Amino acid sequence: MTPNFEVPYLRLGVNIDHVATIRNARGGRHPDPLRAAHLAVEAGADGITAHLREDRRHISDNDIARLKAELTRPLNLEMAATDEMLSIALRHLPYACCLVPERREERTTEGGLDVAGGRQHLERFVAALKDSGIRVSLFIEPEEKQIEAAAAIGADVIELHTGAYCERALEEDAKGLALEMERLRNAARIAAEAGLEVHAGHGLTYNTVSPVARIPQIVELNIGHFLIGEAIFGGLHSAVRRMRALMDEARASVTGRKIA
Ligand code: PXP
Repeated sequence: MTPNFEVPYLRLGVNIDHVATIRNARGGRHPDPLRAAHLAVEAGADGITAHLREDRRHISDNDIARLKAELTRPLNLEMAATDEMLSIALRHLPYACCLVPERREERTTEGGLDVAGGRQHLERFVAALKDSGIRVSLFIEPEEKQIEAAAAIGADVIELHTGAYCERALEEDAKGLALEMERLRNAARIAAEAGLEVHAGHGLTYNTVSPVARIPQIVELNIGHFLIGEAIFGGLHSAVRRMRALMDEARASVTGRKIA
């Protein structure tokens, strides 16, 4: 196979929210999300992602301050588009912010942002973050109208929600799975053509990561819950390493480049 040098390296962002979920179950300091972040980096994570939710159910303000001060890799702060979160982001200046929809009653981020329907509201947040030198990502469903709206309001990046694709995999719905994969592929292509950097994430596991990693326009995957869950059985280092290896193998099958 002739190496295809057009296909970029695929970064892994490890989301450490659920280390904080376990810590908060008892209120103390253990397990420490920052320690998990250092370990994830040692094991091959290219960046660390943390979601500061409005109800502070896992990551705390102090976690963000410590991550920003001590991390050796870029911090990607996931947050709702609210004034409170904006002022926190501007205070800590993470490398990137990913704007996500947030409802207090949801267990996790259940859908993408409605950028097309909320342009006026979101535009101000995108501009303020970008003015401070923060890369801005919008977490969206793989839909053309959302991508067009994200490009129109000046986002640097879109992160495609892989939740529906992962659910079809869990249900063993082969037809639905193929359909969701097609939606992701098309969305990645359209977004890259519009000049947006393309990320993806939500619900990814060892079983579902490879087809997503083969989509050539995607340059970053953000993965959390599954890795922290796997860490219970075999340790975080080994979970991150295995995910990294699956991503590298999948990517090599597209690029024809040897894995280092
Ligand atoms: N990307 C975004 C924007 C998210 O909101 C989340 C969940 O916080 C993730 C990625 C990671 O999802 P998961 O924890 O299911 O791997």
